[in-house]
Amino acid sequence: MKIIAITAAALFFFLGCARGGTQNRQNETSELTGDNRVLVAYFSRTGNTEGLAKTIHELAGGDLFEITPVEPYPSDYDECLARALAELSGDSRPPLAARVENMDTYNVIFIGYPIWCGDAPMVIRSFLEEYDLAGKTVVPFCTSGSSGLSGSVAAIKRLCPESTIPDGLAVSASSLGSARDAVSTWLKGLGL
Ligand SMILES: Cc1cc2nc3c(=O)[nH]c(=O)nc-3n(C[C@H](O)[C@H](O)[C@H](O)COP(=O)(O)O)c2cc1C
Repeated sequence: MKIIAITAAALFFFLGCARGGTQNRQNETSELTGDNRVLVAYFSRTGNTEGLAKTIHELAGGDLFEITPVEPYPSDYDECLARALAELSGDSRPPLAARVENMDTYNVIFIGYPIWCGDAPMVIRSFLEEYDLAGKTVVPFCTSGSSGLSGSVAAIKRLCPESTIPDGLAVSASSLGSARDAVSTWLKGLGL
């Protein structure tokens, strides 16, 4: 009996360790009811969007992927703002440090970002342009000071003309601590 218990514990430990990696898998429960293969991809400079992405990942299941630019954005706000404005006005595509190798296996892609200057940071355009997302559902979510999704949804629709883009979720930085219920209601309302 003791040997069986020890073997089971070792198996659980092994399975737990094997789940790590860039794309962090968690599929135990989901607020979504359909037959979905979910990716939650996000960019976050100061952690707000990362927190929201992790809540969505917990409630929707699937895999989690952090979008990382090759050249990190400055921690100084003014320097970051200057770079963000230059990239926006130059319609830049900042190179990314990693890509999702198995994008074809997902049919629902949540895409999260902070609102910068009334739009998504240009790394989101870099990310979306790397893949053929035709026929997939691309679901935007953002954090911001107060702006809401602003111009970011129009940009995503332009970049993903053959994807389904349901209503996104915007959470202000000051409401992040109590966003779990809103995330749950939003996910259930997506009808996915
Ligand atoms: C360069 C820059 C531009 C921003 N522009 C806006 C904006 O237009 N509207 C807004 O409400 N918040 C704006 N913010 C605030 C961020 O959207 C907000 O702090 C967000 O939650 C940060 O997310 P993160 O921690 O995931 O990076 C801006 C922040 C930065 C750094």
